[in-house]
Amino acid sequence: MTTRSFRTLDTLDPRGKKILLRADLNVPVRDGTISDLTRIERLTPTIRELADKGGRVIVVSHFDRPKGKPVPEMSLAPISEALARVLGKKITFVPDCVGAVAQNAVAAMTDGDVIVLENTRFYPGEEQNDPEMAKSLASLADIYVNDAFSAAHRAHASTEGVAHHLPSFAGRLMEIELGALEAALENPQRPVGAIVGGAKVSTKLDLLNNMIEKVDMLAVGGAMANTFLAAQGLSVGKSLKEADMLDTAKSIMTKAKQRGCDLILPTDVVVASDFMAGAPSEIVPVTDIPDGWMALDIGPETVALLNKKLGKLKTLVWNGPLGVFEMPPFDTGTNAVAQEAARLTKAGQLKTVAGGGDTVSALRHAHVLHDMSYVSTAGGAFLEWLEGKLLPGVVMLGEAGHDVAPL
Ligand code: 3PG
Ligand code: MG
Repeated sequence: MTTRSFRTLDTLDPRGKKILLRADLNVPVRDGTISDLTRIERLTPTIRELADKGGRVIVVSHFDRPKGKPVPEMSLAPISEALARVLGKKITFVPDCVGAVAQNAVAAMTDGDVIVLENTRFYPGEEQNDPEMAKSLASLADIYVNDAFSAAHRAHASTEGVAHHLPSFAGRLMEIELGALEAALENPQRPVGAIVGGAKVSTKLDLLNNMIEKVDMLAVGGAMANTFLAAQGLSVGKSLKEADMLDTAKSIMTKAKQRGCDLILPTDVVVASDFMAGAPSEIVPVTDIPDGWMALDIGPETVALLNKKLGKLKTLVWNGPLGVFEMPPFDTGTNAVAQEAARLTKAGQLKTVAGGGDTVSALRHAHVLHDMSYVSTAGGAFLEWLEGKLLPGVVMLGEAGHDVAPL
């Protein structure tokens, strides 16, 4: 999959057109307040461009997981207000996403207007990708623009089904996300490396297997590394590990060797007696993890090794922390490597693309979130892309989506 075959907004004249814009307004909310506006901020260029050029912008999105019925706490109404504030433009919120309420709201629009429709997941047809739901959404508009890369791994009515019925375009955020991922993995400047951290080999198996085929260097950190160390016959004390994944880890190591991918595991770790912030800790070689202790971070020798390897790369993909970064001092390794990646990026020597769940928090914690070349807003979609999977929402913007069935 490449971005070359996508239709972008460069080829769309939005004037006077009703445009169904699939956004991802699934923002994190804590105690009724939006805790991170990144997804909203990154969406505004597309809305502004379409509205400024005279398009009638109909924003649709899911929010949270209401499971096919209206859940008042999961209304998009407050998020629509936040969007209006960031955009600096009036937005009308419409309390339904299909049917007469939505149709009437669209009929009342004039050129340059922006409306936000209620949560698509209030209907079971959204997640079921029900053709009727897709048709109802499509009937609101002339054009479909998908700017929700972070929801593109879902084959839902508003991310996939609707694109069968309307001419479909990638929004600016979608275009940027796909461009960044392509530059990192499809067509990277080499050598290209990946840092993959996190807790479990089992959840990142497809990702590791795909990475081995694409990158020249793969550094494995986090609790996942313990499983690899155990697979090499080392004792990892009471560290988190997956006993049933040892053979899998072995086969990944063998495959890496066959493919000439430099697989890097920790050579030393920070071990603690308890899983607790500030727990007594020690730095030990991986060959010397004491019984009853657990590895919670990579050690300084491993940091130095990784940082040296980073200096040789031209491109780096980062997914997952290298230690328990939420619990100081076990954030030291992640911070140090993230800061070196940031330094090389700022010096113009390295292109860094990061994304997926915890990664954004870890980079923010290391104060380098804004020093990477690109940080994806996507969690699951970023992971699935790294796994080499085709994302249904993205597929519909490529050749497959060019022939649309009329309603
Ligand atoms: C996300 O936040 O990962 C996307 O918005 C998709 O949400 P989902 O995991 O509930 O499908
Ligand atoms: Mg998710």
